[in-house]
Amino acid sequence: MINIAVLGYGTVGSGVVEVIRTNGQIIDKNAGQNINVKYVLDLREFPGDPVMDILVHDYDVILNDPEVEVIAEVMGGVEPAYTFVKSALEKGKSVCTSNKELVAKHGPELLRIAAAHNRNFMFEASVGGGIPIIRPLNNAITADKINSITGILNGTTNYILTKMCKEGLDFDAVLKEAQELGYAERNPSADVDGFDACRKIAILCSLAYGKNVNYENIYTEGITKITDIDFKYANKLGRSVKLFGKAEHTEGQFYVFVTPVMIDDTHPLFSVNGVFNAILVNGNVLGDVMFYGSGAGKLPTASAVVSDIVDAVRNLNHNIPVEWSAEELELSDIRSSKKRFFVRLSGDTQARAEEVKAAFGDVEFISVEGVENEFAFITDIISEADYEEKASKLNGIITRIRME
Ligand code: HSE
Repeated sequence: MINIAVLGYGTVGSGVVEVIRTNGQIIDKNAGQNINVKYVLDLREFPGDPVMDILVHDYDVILNDPEVEVIAEVMGGVEPAYTFVKSALEKGKSVCTSNKELVAKHGPELLRIAAAHNRNFMFEASVGGGIPIIRPLNNAITADKINSITGILNGTTNYILTKMCKEGLDFDAVLKEAQELGYAERNPSADVDGFDACRKIAILCSLAYGKNVNYENIYTEGITKITDIDFKYANKLGRSVKLFGKAEHTEGQFYVFVTPVMIDDTHPLFSVNGVFNAILVNGNVLGDVMFYGSGAGKLPTASAVVSDIVDAVRNLNHNIPVEWSAEELELSDIRSSKKRFFVRLSGDTQARAEEVKAAFGDVEFISVEGVENEFAFITDIISEADYEEKASKLNGIITRIRME
C-alpha cells in the first residue's frame, strides 16, 4: 500500500479524492499497489464529509510522516505551495501538482530537487486540465524537432469567444453570463487578459525546447478588445477568432506569444469550441498531432493529477528525466515574426482605397452589411514591425487582429 496526501480540498482536491474513490480498482491495478489517501490538508472544516476523518490543518503532520510517499498539491498560487512542495521533495516525497503558477515560476528548481532525491515532480494537470500533453511532450514526442505548439489553453476565454462568434453577443454581455454560470471568475483578469494561457504556453515551450521560458518575457494580449463587430467580419470571411498561446521555432528564432488570432475553417483548432482546450503540436518528422479535451473542471483536472500519482507510484524510487533546465531560452522579438493582419479602418472604402494601397499594397477590402462608416482589409504576410510602420501612415485604424 502507498500512502498519499492531498494538499487543498477545493474543487480539484475534492475531485482527486472522488476519482480515487470512484476508480480505485482501476487506479490500484494501474499503479500496481493500493493507493490510500492518508491525509487531506485544508484550513477549513468539512462537517459531514468523509474526508473529516483524515483532515489535517498542519502541514508538518504530512511532511514529517515517513509513510506518506506521494503528495498531490492542488491548492493553487505560488505560496505556500512552493514552500510545501520544495520541502516535500527534499524529504524524499514525490509531488504531483495542478498548479501552473508554481510550475511556470519554479519548474526547473523543483525538477532538479526531485531528481537529486530520486523522486518525481509531476504536473500533467497544470496545462490543459484533463488533456494529456505534458507526458506526451516529455516521453512520447522525443524524435522530433518541434516546429510549433499552438494551443487553445484557456476554457473561459474560449467559451466567451465561441458565444460571441455563434450568438453575435458583445464581450461584456458574454463575460457577465459566463460569471453567472461559474465559467469565469468574479475577477476575470487572469483569463481574459491572457495571463493564464501565458503561464501554460511557457510550461509547454520550456518542455519542448528543454530550456526555461520566463513567462514574464512572453508577449501577451488578451481578448478584452475583441468585439461583436470583429465577429461580423470574421463570420463573413468564414473565420473565427481564438485566443492562441503559441510557440514557434522557425529559422533559428523562438517566438512565443499569447494573442487573439483569426483562423479559417481549415485550421485544426477552428472547431474547438466552448470550454474545451486543444493543443496542436507540429514536429519536423511527425507533422501535426492534436490533443483535445476538457481543459478545466473538477474531475478532468483530477483525472490528470491521479494519472501523475499512478506514474509516481510506478516510479517510486526512479526519477523520470524531464528536459527543462534553468538556463533561459532566448526569445526573439515578435516584431520580426511574420503573419497576415486583419485591419479595420474608419471611413469609406472607396474614399480611402488609394491611401490604404499606398501603405499596404494591393490588399483585399471587406465590408459587412449593417456595419457603417468603416471597412476592413487583410494584409500580405508581413512582419509585426513592418505592420506597425505601415499602419502608422493611416489614421483611424480601429483594430487589428493577427491571422493564421
Ligand atoms: N481558468 C482556467 C481556464 C482554468 O478557464 O481554462 C484552468 O486552468
